[in-house]
Amino acid sequence: MDFTSNKRPESMARINTPELAQAFIDEAVEAMRAQVGDGKVLLALSGGVDSSVVAALLIKAIGKQLVCVHVNHGLMRKGESEQVIDVFRNQMGAELIYVDAVDRFLDLLAGEADPEAKRHIIGEEFIKVFAEEATKLDGIKFLGQGTIYPDILESEAGVKAHHNVGGLPEELDFELVEPVKLLFKDEVRVVGEALGLPTNMVYRQPFPGPGLGVRCTGAITRDRLEALREADAIVREEIDAAGLDIWQYFCVVPDYRATGVRDGKRAFEWPCIIRCINTVDVMTAEVPELDWALLKRMTSRILDEVPGICRVCYELSPKPIATVEWE
Ligand code: XMP
Repeated sequence: MDFTSNKRPESMARINTPELAQAFIDEAVEAMRAQVGDGKVLLALSGGVDSSVVAALLIKAIGKQLVCVHVNHGLMRKGESEQVIDVFRNQMGAELIYVDAVDRFLDLLAGEADPEAKRHIIGEEFIKVFAEEATKLDGIKFLGQGTIYPDILESEAGVKAHHNVGGLPEELDFELVEPVKLLFKDEVRVVGEALGLPTNMVYRQPFPGPGLGVRCTGAITRDRLEALREADAIVREEIDAAGLDIWQYFCVVPDYRATGVRDGKRAFEWPCIIRCINTVDVMTAEVPELDWALLKRMTSRILDEVPGICRVCYELSPKPIATVEWE
């Protein structure tokens, strides 16, 4: 396999077995060692499938010459940053810089209700935080990226500009290391499993770059964000425990209050919307018919366990006309 090429050879077999994954890993490790030599590689590690697999490959290839940076922007799901630290620093021995940027992001976002402005703030700040960390480090020549083949195809077709890290400032003049750029998503997952990454990381649902920011609609407040994170964790836990195969499932807590009654007193709290979709290509999506008992269990757990939420709704809108995310 030619790791410098942007063209997947016609003859390349789909990586769908542990044996094929192992053969790919051996080749990739050799190619990365040849490219990097004794240089250092920097990698933004979000905890998503692609960056996690690239991290695991680079750890195998060059160990401590890899420096991972995990930026916690405060919009991660419950337990995600902790898992990144546990898996990569504690279990795999990676050099991992954890950046707690929660206050920075939430302070900047305070009062901003426009969805596009929120996305812009989150994207820009992420680049700023990452670039700051990069300039603190000496002797970094390479940047690891979780580019996958659909990114290259979409970028060539002009569908979207491909910038995995969102476009870093020019003065950070890195050479890219992109070991999975000729692979499709399903192949990246098989490789991740062969590298020993946890199943829930390898089969993680798509999660927007702006994170819970697009599900805590309107101007984000810390209390509503916390309620969203807890409700979302309950929905994930219950659907996982039910063993259902649903493509994407999460909660939205809108910037709106409704009346309820709690402990005999009037409550004026947020509704929580449970959003589940099944899809093949995310261009269209259907809503699965969930078991009534499961819906009731999620509802009573959210109402009992999450302060600030007094109603639970299940969304029935397919895409189109609705999009998957609310913002
Ligand atoms: P929509 O809402 O456009 O979502 O129907 C389609 C898929 O894309 C994900 N999504 C995003 N992913 N950055 C991302 O990396 C984003 O800003 C973003 N917005 C939506 C969404 O979760 C769904 O899987």
